[in-house]
Amino acid sequence: MRRVLVTGGAGFVGSSLVHRLVSETDASVDVLDKLTYAASPESLDDLPPDRVRLVVGDVADAALVDSLVADSDAVVHVAAESHNDNSLSDPTPFVQTNLVGTFLLLEAVRRYDVRFHQVSTDEVYGDLALEDPKRFTEDTPFRPSSPYSATKAGADHLVSAWVRSFGVRATISHCSNNYGPWQHVEKFIPRQITEILEGRPARIYGSGEHVRDWIHADDHSSAVLAILERGRVGETYLVGADGEHSNLEVARTILRLMGRDEDQLVHVEDRAGHDRRYAIESGLLRSELGWQPRLKDFEAGLVETIAWYSAHRDWWASDKAATEAAYAATGQ
Ligand code: NAD
Ligand code: DAU
Repeated sequence: MRRVLVTGGAGFVGSSLVHRLVSETDASVDVLDKLTYAASPESLDDLPPDRVRLVVGDVADAALVDSLVADSDAVVHVAAESHNDNSLSDPTPFVQTNLVGTFLLLEAVRRYDVRFHQVSTDEVYGDLALEDPKRFTEDTPFRPSSPYSATKAGADHLVSAWVRSFGVRATISHCSNNYGPWQHVEKFIPRQITEILEGRPARIYGSGEHVRDWIHADDHSSAVLAILERGRVGETYLVGADGEHSNLEVARTILRLMGRDEDQLVHVEDRAGHDRRYAIESGLLRSELGWQPRLKDFEAGLVETIAWYSAHRDWWASDKAATEAAYAATGQ
């Protein structure tokens, strides 16, 4: 791979992947990113300009996508509208970016016979009961709950159809919940850390018994690179690090690690259609591609993440105010 196009490379997961491509391959990286409210172009500032080029634009711009794909050996499609709560207040950009954008990329990689990897989510599988011992596997049927996860599922179906009908050389990964530096403060872990830093209690939707399966973003990006380099075309891989915790457990751990009383939390309005539990069985990725998560100690990862947000107040402060104003309007 001489030149890799990473869509959404200025976002939370995408920037981790761009760093990994620069440090672990010889490829040049083109980042196509619209720089929405969720982007952090400054997360790419430390990378060499002769290896990374940022193209500010939309994955739903057919002419731009065509010209970038024509010059690429591989495309990793990371860009998306990514936040469930936003998809409940306005699904429109989710349909445009996640569905139309993926369609246009697929048409371009089909035209130029370019290798394609689709970064997707475990949420396409819907949810599991809290007490269910089962985990999601590559064979679990799609059953998305939210507008966000429905658009991701639709996009994944497009990818599979382009593989089967047109012979596009594509793979798909479904990852569980990521955490780490550069994640927007609208998301659960950074929201709690920054609420506590601002002297307020953690905010828990509903009962807080909901379970998420946490993985560090750098382990997600190492899995994506392994799949891009060694994955079987047409295959789907699940990415997870055996990190199941209830939201209450995570909030209490963050409070304790930040030296606060573990009861400094409030239960707020629940999310509509709130998925109860996600859990990933990532055996195929581990056995077939030899991938392993390296940052498996969730508490150690939280300590580092808390330190990072404590040291980067300048980065999140203005987004924080706007995010909390939007949450206040929904009682969350
Ligand atoms: P994010 O919201 O932090 O970043 C998304 C990036 O995409 C931003 O830089 C944004 O500017 C860009 N973008 C949005 N719309 C665009 C458009 N129309 N054209 C070009 N760029 C656009 O999201 P994230 O958390 O980094 O998630 C990235 C991908 O990983 C998504 O596809 C998501 O479904 C998937 N994923 C995320 C997680 C997670 O926990 N964060 C887990 C599994 C899968
Ligand atoms: O599972 C992968 C998905 O993980 C990705 O596809 C999504 O892009 C990513 O946003 C994430 O989705 P979730 O909806 O699980 O993440 P979020 O951080 O929004 O919420 C995590 C859990 O915490 C969820 O049960 C809702 C709850 N929550 C969230 C916020 C923001 C709270 O209890 N309080 C909060 O303030």
